[in-house]
Amino acid sequence: MPSVRFFPEGAIAAVPPGTSLLEAVYAAGLTMETPCGGNGICGKCRVRVLTGLPHGIQDRAKPVSPFALACQDLVGEDDLDLEILEVGENSLQIHDESLALSCAHIPRLTKRFLPDRGRTEVLAGGKTLCLEAGNRTDSLFGLAVDVGTTTLAVALVDLRNGEEAASAATLNRQTRHAHDVLGRISFAAEPGGLAILQQDALTDINALIAEVCAQAGISAADIYEAVICGNTCMQHLVTGIDPANLGRRPYHPAFRGHAYRKAAEVGLRIASQGEVYFPAVLSGHVGADIVAGIVATGLLRRHQPTLFIDIGTNGEMALAKEGRVIAASTAAGPAFEGMNISCGMRAAAGAIEAFCLEGDGRPVLKTIAEAPPRGLCGSGLIDAVAALVVHNGVASSGRFTPDGGAIAHFLERVNGKSRFRLAPHIFLTQKDIRQVQLAKAAIRAGIDLLLRQARILPEQVDRVLIAGSFGYHLKERSLLDLGLLPEAFAGKTEFVGNTSKAGARIFLLDAASRDWAASLAEKASCLDLADLPDFQAVFTASMAFPRASRPTFTATPAA
Ligand code: FES
Repeated sequence: MPSVRFFPEGAIAAVPPGTSLLEAVYAAGLTMETPCGGNGICGKCRVRVLTGLPHGIQDRAKPVSPFALACQDLVGEDDLDLEILEVGENSLQIHDESLALSCAHIPRLTKRFLPDRGRTEVLAGGKTLCLEAGNRTDSLFGLAVDVGTTTLAVALVDLRNGEEAASAATLNRQTRHAHDVLGRISFAAEPGGLAILQQDALTDINALIAEVCAQAGISAADIYEAVICGNTCMQHLVTGIDPANLGRRPYHPAFRGHAYRKAAEVGLRIASQGEVYFPAVLSGHVGADIVAGIVATGLLRRHQPTLFIDIGTNGEMALAKEGRVIAASTAAGPAFEGMNISCGMRAAAGAIEAFCLEGDGRPVLKTIAEAPPRGLCGSGLIDAVAALVVHNGVASSGRFTPDGGAIAHFLERVNGKSRFRLAPHIFLTQKDIRQVQLAKAAIRAGIDLLLRQARILPEQVDRVLIAGSFGYHLKERSLLDLGLLPEAFAGKTEFVGNTSKAGARIFLLDAASRDWAASLAEKASCLDLADLPDFQAVFTASMAFPRASRPTFTATPAA
């Protein structure tokens, strides 16, 4: 069997001929971005061929190329040495630092020194978990884990003072099988699929545990409790429970959470006697990540109607009004995470995270780490499309305007097709605009229907809390200009970052919050949007962009 060696990591995989280079990347224990969904469009999976010849390149009778596309080219009969060119998961941005947590500090996990025995008793909920030699009361750690459809994040929490001792994030390697929840449910139904997805999740989480332990200089055996938050499908996959129910009516979850498992039973590499807590889920489509968000934002403590939206591959939302919660979820797809977009990428160094046009029409870009622009992440994509909309480059139908409107200087034709060039090698195609339309329509339709169900007008909403891994970069104006949010929300939005992880941290620090969240899950009502007779009509109406509002510039710069 040929071996494929990846540099600079030095990781190696032995795979049968005919395996895609991308599969070989994963088999070697590495991950790779596939923004275009492995369709050979974005070029983000490019590798440099150092030795050997991938099969696809041979077959296409191309001159020997030092580069290959991992998603397209295959391992042949020869051993290969490949260099991965794109920055991987290590540069993912983590944005949960600014949400000030407010909770009691009464953790479920405690320790006490027994001087007569010279040992330290480790207790969970008052029950003895184990005894440690000597006085170990100076070490008390828990893990807050957010398992997102696209990324995973882990925080090591010092339970003595509530501080985050270390944190790390990675790309969810399940994305190699499918980018969204429905795709994962389908993959889980294939022979061996569920076991693969579970193993993928555990491999990622365990790698992050090793990373945060190394950062903090502790052993994973010093961690006795983990709280895992994720959407309902992810909770199923981590526990190895078949998520098939989530893909068919009435979408009742097989696993409802508010449950404890032994870490060893789950496969989490922490103390062998350690425990894992899975918070309650609200429904098949509204998961523990939203419950965590409700807890982290103190949603129910707000007196005026407040809307919480977590924007990811699913747009999950909860509306709180007079102590009651109504929640819904809508399939937004991966566009806002930079996926399925020609020049999309995740929030990593070089991603355009902010884009605007000056009064004279000149583009102003802000990239992550101030690196040269390599692509558009979700917030940059939203900014860029909003700019096309307000300057009449895109009509309200989503079609490019024939003359490019006030930004004709960005319009170019390549292979007979129009596209807007935002920066060298970074452009938006008609198909990209359609992906953004679909994503924003899903979220906007969810908002409109949720408000209608609660009999609240957009004007009556007091605050709009927006969570998601790109939350802090989003501009309210861009969301309004796209029509993703109603104009009546102007001045009311607040970006709250990764509330799933923040909520998991609260569950670690405040044991009572778990029961509170479980009772919330019992009482909250969940709206099944797809079952509403007019969902399709509202969704279709939400596809339209608002009309252009700033069509001209004081001067037209050179293209
Ligand atoms: Fe391979 Fe886009 S070209 S993932």
